[in-house]
Amino acid sequence: MTISLPAQVYPVIWQDDHVLLIDQTRLPNEFDVVQISRCDDMAQAIKTMIVRGAPAIGVAAAYGMYLGAREIQTSDRTKFMAQLEAIADKLRATRPTAVNLFWAIERMLKTARQTIGPIDHLKQELLKTAQSINADDLHTCQAIGDHGLAVLPQEPQQLRLLTHCNAGALATAGYGTALGVVRSAWRQGRLLKVYADETRPRLQGAKLTAWECVQEGIPVTVITDNMAAHCMQRGMIDAVVVGADRIAANGDTANKIGTYSVALVAKAHEIPFFVAAPLSTVDFELNDGSQIPIEERDPVEIYQIEDTLICPPGAEFYNPAFDVTPAALITAIITEYGAVAPHELANLRLKHVV
Ligand code: MRU
Repeated sequence: MTISLPAQVYPVIWQDDHVLLIDQTRLPNEFDVVQISRCDDMAQAIKTMIVRGAPAIGVAAAYGMYLGAREIQTSDRTKFMAQLEAIADKLRATRPTAVNLFWAIERMLKTARQTIGPIDHLKQELLKTAQSINADDLHTCQAIGDHGLAVLPQEPQQLRLLTHCNAGALATAGYGTALGVVRSAWRQGRLLKVYADETRPRLQGAKLTAWECVQEGIPVTVITDNMAAHCMQRGMIDAVVVGADRIAANGDTANKIGTYSVALVAKAHEIPFFVAAPLSTVDFELNDGSQIPIEERDPVEIYQIEDTLICPPGAEFYNPAFDVTPAALITAIITEYGAVAPHELANLRLKHVV
């Protein structure tokens, strides 16, 4: 298997007049980049998970809004805004759980509403906003990584961290949230290794987290999802760090399916459980996690691996893509403004800007 390796991983890049996406459905066996020039193609790329991870789909949707705006022909502002709202609806319909998608679309609409002048100027402002969402996320992730480092256990000196799914550079503009904390720990000499849950059914841990770590020389051990409890019982894990797709105002956190089980087991073994996420992942409109919409995906993800059917015909399937970890199981939420206990999240509300 020969693939050309990028020096640094940026899953979404604006280049000339189009977007480049790393095709995350093909990693780790192939490193492919897809060129996106139309909003419809961006919507499809988000839906099919060519681009995935909450902050990354926010960035992708922002560019999708610009690509859609660019295709609008009218110079009449009212007609333009009506068409832009329709584009927003199309992008919103791609994936329901990660709130960053909705946040980024709203930020783009706000730019459109607040920009005065000709439509061409408005379109340029939309591109600038998408680019700044992209650039801001990179800085945000680096800040999350550094704040995370400050709250990790002081002992042992070299930590063994467990993560679930992929909350890395691939899932953000670069660097990562949970994997940003892992990266910062590695760069400061505080990481012995990271355990990556494989993350059934789509295997983001085995395929993407392991790939990112290998790229950077970070020691990574992949385990299947049902091995985490055993590893904790044997004293092999010092802390858990995961990402988030949507955090309710009380700190309840939706993340990749299986996160809740990891949090329960961590609690049982008194192992700290951290959620690393930008403030754009917090949905202050929702009081608690029961209100978070949970995406259900095609059951084929369960009953088929590559081309092989692994279940008998006649069985039924249930394939929720996310679950909600109650705030009570979370030691701290690590944001770009620092780490807070879940019940302190409301203190950051004023810093949450759309
Ligand atoms: O279905 P995915 O792969 O988009 O789910 C991704 C996750 O659950 C991540 O943990 C989350 O989006 C945080 S990414 C920084």
